[in-house]
Amino acid sequence: MLPDIVVRVALAGHRGRTGSELARALEAATDVEYVGGVGRGDDLAAFLARRRPQVLVDFTHPGVALDNALAAVRAGAAPVVGTSGLGPEAVDRLEEACRAVGLGGVVAPNFAVGAVLMMRLAELAAPFFEAVEVIEMHHAGKADAPSGTALATARRLAASKPGGFAHNRPLTVTLPGARGGEEGGVAVHSVRLPGVVADQEVILGLPGQTLVVAHRTTSRECYVPGVLLAVRKVVEGPRFYRGLDELLGLGGLGLG
Ligand SMILES: NC(=O)c1ccc[n+]([C@@H]2O[C@H](COP(=O)([O-])OP(=O)(O)OC[C@H]3O[C@@H](n4cnc5c(N)ncnc54)[C@H](OP(=O)(O)O)[C@@H]3O)[C@@H](O)[C@H]2O)c1
Repeated sequence: MLPDIVVRVALAGHRGRTGSELARALEAATDVEYVGGVGRGDDLAAFLARRRPQVLVDFTHPGVALDNALAAVRAGAAPVVGTSGLGPEAVDRLEEACRAVGLGGVVAPNFAVGAVLMMRLAELAAPFFEAVEVIEMHHAGKADAPSGTALATARRLAASKPGGFAHNRPLTVTLPGARGGEEGGVAVHSVRLPGVVADQEVILGLPGQTLVVAHRTTSRECYVPGVLLAVRKVVEGPRFYRGLDELLGLGGLGLG
């Protein structure tokens, strides 16, 4: 039996590492009509005019994601942006563009449900611990360090502990960088290795005990449930969501 509502969805970046996984999932979803993918060098405006999607999902490059999303809004398609690196002004601009024409929109730097919950659970525990360190692990092709999720996690942890965390500074550092980076008293360490997708651990410490909140991924399939949720929600009305937290009803801070 066909579902009541079928959403017409297009995808920018369909040949990419994440996009190719999402294209398969959009094809397979029974409540989605996948109207096709658009890549580098294609004429996005012409594609949108021809295929008339209700939603454009974007997993491309920080240099083009805002323009892609604004083009989608001009064509009447609600943007769902997974591309990382959109600054607050860019997100404000997109929200304004969506509001002006009565469309919904989503910008979420992390579409993995477990990652958003890992951040929230660590944030809940943080006020009870003296010190905390974040270890994020990503595939060798990742261009930046630390990950946006690790930085957002450190900021959220710092905000949840008004007295601040103890940050250990060794008397002697024999290998520069051994203690990682630091954000708000939270040490952040980045591992880059082939074989990893996108993992993160938050280790909280008190004398005599530690608590570890860990999120592990085994493939880019981890982004599929979050993106499908976004596609379904964004056509329900003109609401603009910042972060998967908001989509999940976690009362998001717009960071997940
Ligand atoms: N929010 C999340 O949960 C999440 C998860 C994973 C990744 N990301 C982000 O998503 C983005 C893509 O990541 P990835 O690892 O999939 O990268 P990738 O493998 O390099 O794929 C990027 C894709 O974007 C396409 N592209 C580049 N410029 C374009 C343009 N001007 N117009 C249309 N398409 C264009 C490329 O097309 P060609 O194939 O034609 O070169 C490629 O298919 C990154 O910003 C990454 O940080 C976010």
